[in-house]
Amino acid sequence: MTDSIGALRQAVDEAERIVALTGAGISAESGVPTFRGPGGLWRNYSPEKLATPEAFAENPRLVWEWYDWRRSLIRKAEPNAGHLALVELERRKAGEAGGPSGFTLVTQNVDGLHDRAGSRNVVKLHGDIWWVRCMGCGVEQRNEQVPLEDLPPRCACGGSLRPGVVWFGEPLPEAEWERAVEASSNAQVFLAVGTSAVVYPAAGLAELAQAAGARLAVVNAEPTPLDAMADWVLPGKSGELLPRLL
Ligand code: OAD
Repeated sequence: MTDSIGALRQAVDEAERIVALTGAGISAESGVPTFRGPGGLWRNYSPEKLATPEAFAENPRLVWEWYDWRRSLIRKAEPNAGHLALVELERRKAGEAGGPSGFTLVTQNVDGLHDRAGSRNVVKLHGDIWWVRCMGCGVEQRNEQVPLEDLPPRCACGGSLRPGVVWFGEPLPEAEWERAVEASSNAQVFLAVGTSAVVYPAAGLAELAQAAGARLAVVNAEPTPLDAMADWVLPGKSGELLPRLL
């Protein structure tokens, strides 16, 4: 394990296939609160208590108030230098026209900031906060209203709408998960960025990639369980560190 940013920059430069797994930490410098650690709590509720089907069944209004609050913060947020560095990495690893990209961005984030920054090959493991799904008829639609007028919001069919995100205890979207597994299994370098790496199965992608031969780098403000197995650990802010990899 080394903290040499130069060696990692070289590995990134030479690799033809890279996966970055991002978490809430990459959006922290944009003003979006993380889930764990300082600032992770909302009105004394932990996200683990709010981001569950049980919490929604018990108190949909409370859960929606939290998402409405998060949506209002995300609406005001702009992508930061970390998001932009990953856009540039994708540009550099673009394949032949029409061919597969050598860079896959797998994100646990639902904030859409990677899209807004300009990343194209984005795999969203946990859904998207700007989508809603009807609990009655199942229809999915984009909804960018901030703040929402009524909580919980209602579908045209009269059913209640839920956030289009994955909650604890729910399966990940199958196609996204398959894309993430395939890219991770083929990666030469795997970057875990701004994630506490405690939520599975997402965190398991790093282990999967390493077992398949990738070198693993962790870029995070605090220590993570991946550090012990990582080839590089870069402690600090992703908005400062990622641009230095280019
Ligand atoms: P967490 O909140 O668990 O972890 C964010 C990590 O980012 C922490 O380890 C921080 O130290 C680190 N961090 C904070 N600011 C940073 C910065 N500027 N640069 C780099 N690192 C920084 O967020 P996730 O790992 O994304 O799931 O959490 C995983 C999942 O748990 C989320 O997708 C969400 C959550 O509950 C669901 O809702 C299903």
